[in-house]
Amino acid sequence: MATSLSFSQFARGLSTETAFDVLAVARRLKAQGKDVIELQIGDSPFNSTQSALDGGIQAIKNNQSHYCPSLGLLSFRETVAGNYAKEYGIPISAENVVVGPGAKVFEQFFCEAFLDPGDAVLVFSPHFPTYGPNIERRGGQMVFSSLKQENQFRPDLNDVENFVKKHPKARAIFLNSPHNPTGGVATEADLKGIADLIRGRNIALFSDEPYDHMVWTGKHYPFLAQPGMLDQAVACYTFSKSYSMSGWRLGYAVSSKAIVEAIGKMINTALSCVPPIVQLAGEAALKNDAAERDQVMARFHKKVQLLVDDLKQVEGVKVFMPAGTFYVFPNVAPICQRLGIVSHGLAMYLLEGADDKKGVACLGGECFGPAGQGFLRFSCAEPDERLREAVAFFKEAIGHADRVKRYLEANPKYRIAGRI
Ligand SMILES: Cc1ncc(COP(=O)(O)O)c(C=O)c1O
Repeated sequence: MATSLSFSQFARGLSTETAFDVLAVARRLKAQGKDVIELQIGDSPFNSTQSALDGGIQAIKNNQSHYCPSLGLLSFRETVAGNYAKEYGIPISAENVVVGPGAKVFEQFFCEAFLDPGDAVLVFSPHFPTYGPNIERRGGQMVFSSLKQENQFRPDLNDVENFVKKHPKARAIFLNSPHNPTGGVATEADLKGIADLIRGRNIALFSDEPYDHMVWTGKHYPFLAQPGMLDQAVACYTFSKSYSMSGWRLGYAVSSKAIVEAIGKMINTALSCVPPIVQLAGEAALKNDAAERDQVMARFHKKVQLLVDDLKQVEGVKVFMPAGTFYVFPNVAPICQRLGIVSHGLAMYLLEGADDKKGVACLGGECFGPAGQGFLRFSCAEPDERLREAVAFFKEAIGHADRVKRYLEANPKYRIAGRI
């Protein structure tokens, strides 16, 4: 690059989703012959559902390979709306639906729609790592509310009240339930409490709901079921998890007609549209694959239970069955303290340092903000016997203080501050 060219302040400070960085390391080690159990990324180990695959092939054969409206194909938006109304009892129509390439991009469009520089956004933390960069894109500032293991990682309504009533620049809230990485699920009363606090104020809410079909305790309550919230919130959904379609890149947002049209302008100017082939695959999945989806969700549930049960047997680990999602988020702070290593250091040690031939890829809780320190995040994206193997490996690896010591000598950034 020419030396006179400098990156923007935003580009220079941009932080990214660590799961993709760890994925790159895991794949490099695998290519070198290491046996790596990959539990770092929130992807499904299952195939996309059958009608999605067939619908996509059919759409290609039908030459559905041109631009379409920025808001999405009308037939797909109608199918989404009909499905949503039936599933959640919220009477929406196609005009309340905008299609995107996955759910993540709506973080950016939500911020572009509602934030001006200096505006404050309440974020429950640990949090999905791309919230910060998307808020920063608009010059917004994050205000954190901690999610605590002793409170089942549910949102703290006192923090919401303080934020909306006292923060001079309060403008938006990012809510994610079921929650990545903790697996916490907000109760109906939590959602009502938040809606009651923001109703009628100039505060927009982003309700990130990619795991709506992965609730193991109770059921999923969509935020938009709260009275008036269609006009004040944007709820986002994805095909990545429920239909194992992460690589197709398909999701949608639900909101009022006015907000949907504002987001349509963002899509027009950034992406033009989502490929019709992908939308038609999603439409076929919604029409035909609910039973297959539910079977796959039940398999995820079992995997999560297996991982939790095995982790409970490891000394120094405090772990509960998550209320939802396919993540397990054990508290490993005593192990980190004993070994003098931060939790993401422990994760990287399991991958790189614990054994020359084998490794487990997972993430330290701090990849989701400082509130995640002392935790690990495991996803369940491997066969059951590999999950068992991963926990057995973990149990053994934390017993090798000599190897941890060597790993820390080579990677001093992972030392707990003040420890040698
Ligand atoms: C909380 C949360 N939001 C958004 C996303 C993005 O999903 P998508 O693949 O639809 O972009 C994820 C994916 O892991 C997630 O966990």
